[in-house]
Amino acid sequence: MNEAAKPRQQGGDARCPGTSFQDLLDLEEVPVPAYLRENTNPDMGDEDLPVERYIAREFHNAEKAKLWPKAWQMVCREEDIPEVGDHHVYDIIDQSVIIVRSAENEIRGLINSCLHRGRLLRDEGGSVSEFRCPFHGATWGLDGGFKGIPCAWDFTHLTEKQDMNLPEVQVATWGGFVFINFDKHAQPFEEYLGVLPEHFARFPLQDYYKGIHVQRVVQCNWKVGAEAFMESFHTVETHRQILTFTGDANSQYDTFGDNISRSVTPMGVPSPHLSEITEEDVMRDILKLSGRMAKDSDEGVEMPDDLTARKYVANMNREIFEQTAGEDFSDATMAELEDAILYSLFPNFQIWVGYHGNIVYRFIPNGDDPDSCIFDIMLLFRYPKGSERPPAVPVHVVPADQPFASAEELGALGPVFDQDDSNMGAVQRGMKASTKGTVSLGSYQESRIRHLHQTLDKYLQA
Ligand code: FES
Ligand SMILES: [Fe+2]
Repeated sequence: MNEAAKPRQQGGDARCPGTSFQDLLDLEEVPVPAYLRENTNPDMGDEDLPVERYIAREFHNAEKAKLWPKAWQMVCREEDIPEVGDHHVYDIIDQSVIIVRSAENEIRGLINSCLHRGRLLRDEGGSVSEFRCPFHGATWGLDGGFKGIPCAWDFTHLTEKQDMNLPEVQVATWGGFVFINFDKHAQPFEEYLGVLPEHFARFPLQDYYKGIHVQRVVQCNWKVGAEAFMESFHTVETHRQILTFTGDANSQYDTFGDNISRSVTPMGVPSPHLSEITEEDVMRDILKLSGRMAKDSDEGVEMPDDLTARKYVANMNREIFEQTAGEDFSDATMAELEDAILYSLFPNFQIWVGYHGNIVYRFIPNGDDPDSCIFDIMLLFRYPKGSERPPAVPVHVVPADQPFASAEELGALGPVFDQDDSNMGAVQRGMKASTKGTVSLGSYQESRIRHLHQTLDKYLQA
């Protein structure tokens, strides 16, 4: 059948021609775990989204009233607060919570507001043996229990008539991450997590350590930021340098219930946008980008006949990862050794699956500003089995006017984030300049973005 004679494919059913991720799984030489075989083919609809969802103060206010007080949100790693008394302050718009290790195996979320005249109890994280308000010295234990206030004779009306223990939020953990929820009646966290524990069964994130943590303010709404990592469609224009070894338009997009979506972008295969790319070309550019080959070299790489670039990279990665972890990864698939398999858990948490390091993204509003957000990038690493777990690094805050590339620890990722960042602020500005007044989405490749908005609507309409 020629192209013209084919029935028009419905939006949600159309796919880029060429090798799909599922086709690549057929070439795996070890058993493919079930979670990789899932292919949910989301058809989420085609309607435009009004730009107000990103730029309007009223919409931001609706999220402030109905989303953030109700949704489970990732606040930090357990290892960020390893000792009793260690705490982290999580600010979300106007709310502030102290995430404290209140006992060896207990983490609590205490509302960061003094019950006397309301001062923040803690301006920032740190380590304390009790919480003493810097204003007049009212004091609480690590578990939020009231201990006292100077001139207690003047406050018997409080201690006798009010609950003076600090109010708490719900706290839960998964994979070494700490999550909170302000809503006492929220969906149980285990339910909220959906398929994540099953899909990450081969990756015990709670045993990894946080080796990189970079944070920077970005000049866009938090959703514009999050959405920059929900589709690989932008690779063709924004990250052209990786096209030779990135199956961008052959990516697979999935949704799992309301809270989870994922994209799978095959690596070690050329983009369907390019033609006549050889296996040698693919290899050469991978080696260049990863710093294993000089950037200015135009030489190809000798590829043995029985090897593809995808297999070559998988083998190379497997060896490196096995050495780093002191473990046997012979049952790892090529997909898990090199592909970009990125999950999101609504609303603020994104994480890669795979043996090649677990990159974490988090986008949250920057204070009460709809036009900027705080972008956290964490990298989790394995360490040799049997050796002591390296301590989590403190957050490296990059000034808002500095590029991500200035955070040298990000290596080759830094300039890639700067390419993404070059769009984020410009999208926010451009949406304000729009006379169209809406944004349009690809039916399939941008289905995860629509999924985010459909879930968001469930909160706003509740
Ligand atoms: S405001 Fe905290 S002790 Fe007065
Ligand atoms: Fe990108």
